[in-house]
Formats: sequence, structure tokens, C-alpha cells
Amino acid sequence: MNPGTNGARLPSGSRSRPVSSSSVPQKLVSAPVARLEGRVRAPGDKSISHRALMFGAVTVGETTIEGLLEGEDILSSAAALRLLGADVVRLGDGAWRVRGVGVGGFREPPDVLDMGNSGTSARLLSGLIASHAFTSFMTGDASLRRRPMLRVIEPLSRMGARFVSRDGGRLPMAVTGAPTMMPIEYRLPVASAQVKSAILLAGLNTPGETTVIEPEPTRDHTERMLEGFSAAVRTRALDDGARAITIVGQPELAGNRHIVVPGDPSSAAFAVVAAAVRPGSDVTVENVGINPTRAGLYETLREMGAALSFENRRVMGGETVADLRIRGGALKGIDVPPDRAPSMIDEYPVLAVAAAVAEGTTRMQGVAELRAKESDRLASVAAGLQANGVRFEIGADYLHVQGGAVPGGGLVATHLDHRIAMSFLVLGLAAQSPVAVDDGSPINTSFPGFADMMNDLGAKITNA
Ligand code: S3P
Repeated sequence: MNPGTNGARLPSGSRSRPVSSSSVPQKLVSAPVARLEGRVRAPGDKSISHRALMFGAVTVGETTIEGLLEGEDILSSAAALRLLGADVVRLGDGAWRVRGVGVGGFREPPDVLDMGNSGTSARLLSGLIASHAFTSFMTGDASLRRRPMLRVIEPLSRMGARFVSRDGGRLPMAVTGAPTMMPIEYRLPVASAQVKSAILLAGLNTPGETTVIEPEPTRDHTERMLEGFSAAVRTRALDDGARAITIVGQPELAGNRHIVVPGDPSSAAFAVVAAAVRPGSDVTVENVGINPTRAGLYETLREMGAALSFENRRVMGGETVADLRIRGGALKGIDVPPDRAPSMIDEYPVLAVAAAVAEGTTRMQGVAELRAKESDRLASVAAGLQANGVRFEIGADYLHVQGGAVPGGGLVATHLDHRIAMSFLVLGLAAQSPVAVDDGSPINTSFPGFADMMNDLGAKITNA
């Protein structure tokens, strides 16, 4: 069986269902290799792919998309948008067309919105449907049903929507939108682009101006893409260093846009770290988005001594992209500043792998948010390091990893978390003995073809 594509079902025709919750667990093993070499292309950016479909769905007219990530998370968004009345069609490899319903034009969905494993789908769509006067029911897989939704329920309720959820704001939940929403000014209590986006998307169909204040910058794809659709979005710096993002409600979004999705820096990170930790490696990952709100890992790897260069910089669909060339060599442990966390929030698991191989200790601080991801990533990473003989210290909001020779030989529990699976497969290629993950099927949520791509570079990832 091909380990890279098992379980990743591409949609055929107009209907597709998320498949992560029903995927069969698939054990994978990654054996040590001397070095990696070659050129690969990063898969489409997950955050930008979700937004391209969603914003296309609330536009009057046709949006065409090129380079869309066809991972299960994106298919969950596509399926939900169809249930809400948008016409979302796959034309070919990464090529999609959305005929939107216009701002405020969704219909009551005739079935439950199943978000699979995707927090971005659940939170951004909550914002979009909050301003529609009907009730929707939303659920997800076992991982998503554990994740906090109160962070969107709270501000969207202030705007007028009503929610009935499981205890602690967990899915499944029912959302009843308000026919007329109230604009708010909201200061984010957690650095979260998903929460920021949910409020701005609710603000899209709210009279007046809705403002989100973010104390720390988070990924800004929502603001950039809404501007691309001619929405009035203003960003200003406040005296205390925070940013205020304001959207003027009820615009008619300009249709007939063509969106080119750049490669995902969070997915490119696996090949980059794999090459960085194998001396003598020389790998180029082409077409990677290097938006500063996403590029924290690359700054961190450079501080650790990695030979990383951004080549052929260019602008693609409003985002800067580059080809990332990485040559393997010795890495040293560093202190990662806590204020860098939002710009590399998804990259800590793979950074922990680089840290395990580096000389000295790497201290990751101020990372409690990792506990609210697809799994409790602080706990999942710590357990994976433990299983492979790596020493570490863990606290409520920190992880310190002691680097050196990695014994490996462990079996890592992935807890339905794609990034835990991919990170520990990267650890295997730099360990003394192979590293196994109990279930590689969640990789298909964000990176179908991951194992094939890594094996093309010289990795040895196989089914166990
Ligand atoms: C995302 C934002 C981040 C990130 C997630 C995608 C987005 O989550 O972890 O993978 O597309 O807005 P938070 O905003 O909750 O930190």
C-alpha cells in the first residue's frame, strides 16, 4: 500500500464527506537515513485554502482557485459550504471553482456540519453562520470534540448569536444565528487567528464596524484575502503595541477573483527540519509562503545554526513566497522567545525534533496554547520524546528539550494529530533506531502525500 496516500480520498463530483473520523489506523515506521537530497514542492497552504473556499462562498459570482490543498480538513470546509448553499466544485488537481451566495446568503443546512478534525473549519464557519437567522448543528471527530469552542461562542454570543454546546463549550453544538447582529469591539484573550477570523467573518454580515484587537500579531490571511475581495478592512497599531483590525459590515464582495494558494510553511517545516538534522543534506522546498506571521520556525532554525536560505522570493496572490534551501549540519539548543509563539504555533512539535538532535538544551516557553490543538501537543510531544529516549522537562506552559544522540526505537501515540505523526517520523530518520507512530492516517488532514515526498528526498517511511 502506498503510505503517502492511504485514506486521502479526493472528492468526486459535487459531494464529499470528511473521512478522518472513520479512517482505519495506519501504523508507520521511519528508519534512520544518512542524508536527504532533492527538490520538492510544498503542498497548498491549509489556512489560505480554507479561506479561499469560504470567502468565495460569500461572494456573488465565481471564484477560481489554483493550488488548493486537498487535505481532509479542506474537504470538511467544502462539504459544509455546500450544505449551506454554495456551489463548490473540483475542476482538477488543486483547481476548484466556487459560486458564492453573497454576504448573508446562506440557507439552513439540511444536515449536520461535520468538521472532521478541522478546528479552522469549525471556528471560521461558526463566525460565518452566526449572522444567519437559522439553526445549524456542528460536530467533528473525537479530537475536535475535545477542543475549546468557548473562545468563539463568547464573542459571537455578544454579537447576538445563540449557542447550545456540550459542557465547557465543546462540540457537538447548535448555532442559531441572529437576523441582525451587533457590532462589537473585542480584545482577544488568547492569540488566535481562528478567533480573530470568526469575529471578522461575523462582522462581514453585521451593520456598522466590528473591531478585533490582538495584543500579539497572529496570521493575517483573513485580512489580506478579504481586502483582495474588496472588503473594507483597516488595521492600525495601538499605543500599547496591539493591533486593531476593523471590518465595515455588509459589503458586496467583488466576485470573479482568481486565487493562487502558496505552499504551506507549516507543511514545508517537516522536510526542512529533516534536512537540517542530517549533516550533508541539501534540500530545496519550492513555493513556500513566508508571511512574517507564519515564519517563526525559520527564524528559530537559523538561530540554532541551520544553513537556511530563502531563494527566488516573489509575490503570489498577495503573499510572499520563496524556495527554501536547507543544508544539514550541527544545530545548537536555544531559548525560543515566548512572543514568537503565534508565528510558529503549529511548528513546535517539529521544533522539538530539531531540539532533540541539537547540542544543548532548547527552551520553549509561553506555549500553553499547544494544549488546545488537535491533541494536547505539549503532552503528546513529551510522551513521544520519552518513548524514544530523549530527555526533557515539561510544565503547564513550557517544554525544555535536552538534545544529543537520539536512541529512538519507540512507538509514538498520535492522538488523531497529524503534526505529531509527521514530527516523529522526522525524528526516526535522525535516530539510532527506527521510530514508529501508531496512526499515520491523520496526516491526510493537512498533507496527503507526505510519506511519498519524504521518501523522494531519501527518507525511509514505510507501513509497519
Ligand atoms: C489557523 C490558526 C491557528 C493554527 C491552525 C490554523 C488558521 O490556530 O494553529 O492550524 O487558519 O487561522 P489558532 O488561531 O487557534 O492559534
